[in-house]
This record gives sequence, structure tokens and C-alpha cells, in this order.
Amino acid sequence: MNQDNKKYMENNISYDLNEHCLISPLDSESPLFEPKIRLGVLASGNGSNFEYIIKSIQNNQLNAEISILIVNNPHCLAIKKAIKYNIPYVIINHRDCQSRLEHDMLVLKKLEDLSVELIVMAGWMRIAGEELINRYINRLINIHPSLLPSFKGIDAIQQAIDERVTITGCTVHYVQKEVDSGSIIIQAAVPIQENDNKDTLTKRIQQMEHIILPLAIAKVAMNIRTGFRGNK
Ligand code: GRF
Repeated sequence: MNQDNKKYMENNISYDLNEHCLISPLDSESPLFEPKIRLGVLASGNGSNFEYIIKSIQNNQLNAEISILIVNNPHCLAIKKAIKYNIPYVIINHRDCQSRLEHDMLVLKKLEDLSVELIVMAGWMRIAGEELINRYINRLINIHPSLLPSFKGIDAIQQAIDERVTITGCTVHYVQKEVDSGSIIIQAAVPIQENDNKDTLTKRIQQMEHIILPLAIAKVAMNIRTGFRGNK
């Protein structure tokens, strides 16, 4: 295990890190900034990344508050996590909308009404529309379970297994129009072991996601606070 990863384990409560994992940039540390950043989290699934964002805030690693969790799927488990941690949430079901644009505009309105500064797509199974992207330039990020630019799109973990690569991982990146293709903020490399199946590999990749997503949020928040505009 490299030194950087060990450090994350010391700072956090219970990260059970993979052996041989690697986070890059290597100097990834959670930067300190003031005042706290107002986050909007978008999720469609289990919400494990959402939960680790909450834990990072509770551990004082991330100076943030989650203004809202938005889900598009009324049955997703992320809702249970919002209730557990007392985070406001709203269901904006795309099936109730006539078009992608209508859904995007409802999401955008909610975020803007709450003065959300940074949007985190944490397992959001929707393609971000141009309105959202343009309104939140440099303030809209996504986590993807591969080492981008490899294995974009759905089922990235299975794609990596099928291609028999020996290293895959996860990436936090800015969102732009082309899916999974904005500037990269942080990546973590995860080796694929001989006896891995999709479940075991998913678990190890997610352990790394839970570390790099809060770090990436802090980095982007720092950029927002300092007015840095260096990304696509
Ligand atoms: C993560 O693997 C993320 O990379 C992908 O969707 C998954 C969400 O997991 N975009 P969870 O809902 O945070 O547990």
C-alpha cells in the first residue's frame, strides 16, 4: 500500500483500503477552504457514494453542506440514506416528464432555488443536458467506475473484465456534453485479480470511489472559492 493511501486510512474512520491501489494525483489531499460549499447530490442507485460524502463532512474532511439530494428513481436506496442522515431530498422522476429537457429544467430549478454551488453526480443514471452543463460550468462533476478514457458508458466494470485488462479503477471528472469525457480531476487505479468477478471487482472499485469522490469535491470547491477557471 502506498503512503498516500495509508494516510487516508489514518484520517478516516474505517476505510478498508485495497492493497496495491493508487490514487493520482499523488499529492491528493483534502484542501481546506472557507466558507463551506453548498452541494447538490444527484443519485439513482444505492447511494453509497452519497453516504461517504456525508461521512467526509461529519469527519471534518470536507467543509460542505448537502443542500439537497435529488433522485430520479423513487425506489432508489439513496433516499433511505438521506432519511437516515436527515438530508433534504426530492424525487424528480423522469418518467413524469414529457422530455429530457423538462426533467433537466426541474432539476436545475431545484438546484438554483437552493443556491447550490457544486453538483455531484454520484451514480446518476441520466445524461446531463446542455442547460445543466452550461449553467454549472466547472461546477458539475461525475464519478465513473473505470480509468477514463477507457470504458465509457454503461457497465464499465464488465467492459473492463471482458477486455481482460489487468488494471481498471475509477475517475472523478467534470461533466461535459460527450458522456464520460470531461477533464479528469482524480483517478484511482485498481488491479483486476485472476479470481475476480464483477461483484468482487465492483466492491474494490467502490472502496476507492468512496475515497476519491470527497477528495475531488474538496479540490473543485477550492477552485470555486479561489476563482480558478482552468478546466474545460
Ligand atoms: C458508482 O459505481 C459510480 O461510479 C457509478 O454508479 C455507481 C453508484 O454507486 N456512476 P452508489 O449508488 O454510489 O452506491
